[in-house]
Amino acid sequence: MPREIRITVLPGDGIGPEVTAAAVAVLHAVGQRFGHAFRTEEALIGGAAIDATGQALPPATAEACDRADAVLLGAVGGPKWSDPKAPVRPEQGLLALRKQLNVYANLRPVKPHAATLKHSAIKAEVLQGVDLVVVRELTGGSYFGRKERHADRAIDVCEYTVAEIERVVRHAFRLARTRRGKVTSVDKANVLETSRLWRETVTRVHRAEFPDVVLEHQLVDSMAMHLISRPRDYDVVVTENLFGDILTDEAAMLAGSMGLLPSAALGDGPRGLYEPIHGSAPDIAGQGIANPIAAILSVAMLLRHSLSLHREAEAVESAVSTVLAAGESDPAQRARDLGGTATTAALTTAVLAALAVEAPPASAAEHAFPAVELRD
Ligand code: IPM
Ligand code: MG
Repeated sequence: MPREIRITVLPGDGIGPEVTAAAVAVLHAVGQRFGHAFRTEEALIGGAAIDATGQALPPATAEACDRADAVLLGAVGGPKWSDPKAPVRPEQGLLALRKQLNVYANLRPVKPHAATLKHSAIKAEVLQGVDLVVVRELTGGSYFGRKERHADRAIDVCEYTVAEIERVVRHAFRLARTRRGKVTSVDKANVLETSRLWRETVTRVHRAEFPDVVLEHQLVDSMAMHLISRPRDYDVVVTENLFGDILTDEAAMLAGSMGLLPSAALGDGPRGLYEPIHGSAPDIAGQGIANPIAAILSVAMLLRHSLSLHREAEAVESAVSTVLAAGESDPAQRARDLGGTATTAALTTAVLAALAVEAPPASAAEHAFPAVELRD
């Protein structure tokens, strides 16, 4: 019997429950098709957790994530919990979870699919051939620094240690070696002290450990511009937490829509936290029209990065490509965020159907042995 693979699912708020339900259906289909025993367990996070327990990351959720091989998250937040005076906010649950799991490297790949090029706000000729990954530092910087609020002033401290910078840039350099061998490090070294430390550290790690990789430094303001004027030039982009948050929403526009982009948050071990980069989209929540593709592609990243199930990951990605291609000229098979009319359920069914057709059935031998050695 293959060893049971434990996935903790955190649907969260807004469209989170709808897109994670789609992603879990795809995960179980992969399990059936390839002979893996995935056990999914749901837990509360964000606003849903605040409503039920008063906490954004209840202890039961933290424990469920601790004993999981990987965590799949939908989205957190919404107007119901966004009162600036609220003592606890949904986003705090997500930040606490990232910290708890020590997932400091957030991979956000952007590779526009041919079928979605014409639905992007950016010209197709600029998008042709774009294939980049942003590695966003996820557990440091102003998100986690000391915070103070007074009547007439507020403070968010941005702090980085050398060790925090080293570990995330090493991740980026290693990733670049598996791709086109180029890293662009983004900072604001002309103004910020943390950015000067960032640049110094990246330069030293590059010289000492990764001289074979091409490194360039770029200031974040000009990066915001180049990212949409010449996105093809980028391979791996590494940057601090807040810059990465902003640049990845911008980069999502290269793919045509936020509804298409998955992400993986990784640490030192195989366990990761996987989430679509889109938010909870409260305006369309509960209507069954959210695009589940980003969540489904997050499952592909989970299969690849936490479980080393590469064939399975590729099967999911190719099923998604089939569905995107079908939607290129048929709005009925295209998600609403790409100008179509397809529902979440219709898109999920289409991905499941494509998966069933494309994935070869697992052989008897693969049923008998676990495909990977999972570390605990
Ligand atoms: C993201 C989101 C989060 C972030 C929010 C929900 C806290 O915008 O994952 O990009 O800022 O990290
Ligand atoms: Mg964001």
